[in-house]
Amino acid sequence: MTQDEIKAMVARAALTHVPPGGIIGVGTGSTVNHFIDALATLREGIAGAVSSSNASTARLRGHGIRVLEAGDVEQLALYVDGADEIDPRGHMIKGGGAALTREKIVADLAQFFLCIADASKQVGVLGRFPLPVEVIGIAANRITRRFEAIGGRAALRQGVVTDNGHPILDVHGLVITDPAALEAEINQWPGVVTVGLFARHHAHLCLLGRVDGVQVLHF
Ligand code: A5P
Repeated sequence: MTQDEIKAMVARAALTHVPPGGIIGVGTGSTVNHFIDALATLREGIAGAVSSSNASTARLRGHGIRVLEAGDVEQLALYVDGADEIDPRGHMIKGGGAALTREKIVADLAQFFLCIADASKQVGVLGRFPLPVEVIGIAANRITRRFEAIGGRAALRQGVVTDNGHPILDVHGLVITDPAALEAEINQWPGVVTVGLFARHHAHLCLLGRVDGVQVLHF
């Protein structure tokens, strides 16, 4: 099985968690693209979706799935999204696809976060994948120095502007042993829009794709 086939497998497995008649929170990325394609088979059985990016919105609409604005929804029963890394407690690094801010907004609306990922995303300690941070441009240098002070090397992601019009810093070299504390700390820094640490909004369940099938992780 290729990595892409494994992603498609976990995406299909996620369909069993979709509440009939519900509005589904939908993330962003290559694994979620498979989920959106699979969700199209249930199109008549759901009320619609709230999307975390322009790219996912376009794909959902391309399948004829109704897309609602996050601001028009009070609560979602389910949010389905991928991850760049996931630790043994369901804490994640996200934002490799630059959609971290809207992903966190939609995750915050949801009562349940279902992570779909291939096994390469599973780590003991977060930080091997560079931590994405969406920032206000004029604060980027100051935030870079703040990361230096805690052992991180921040690099501006070249040629990328988020759906919200901001740059992204990718922070290398962090060993994130306490994701909740680091997320809370970075959130206090002026100019940070969103840090791609999902500790407060951790996964409740992860469907982890392996060559021999889908492993279910509860957190
Ligand atoms: C998007 O900004 C990210 O948070 C994605 O969820 C993450 O990068 C996983 O992407 P893949 O499913 O493409 O691996």
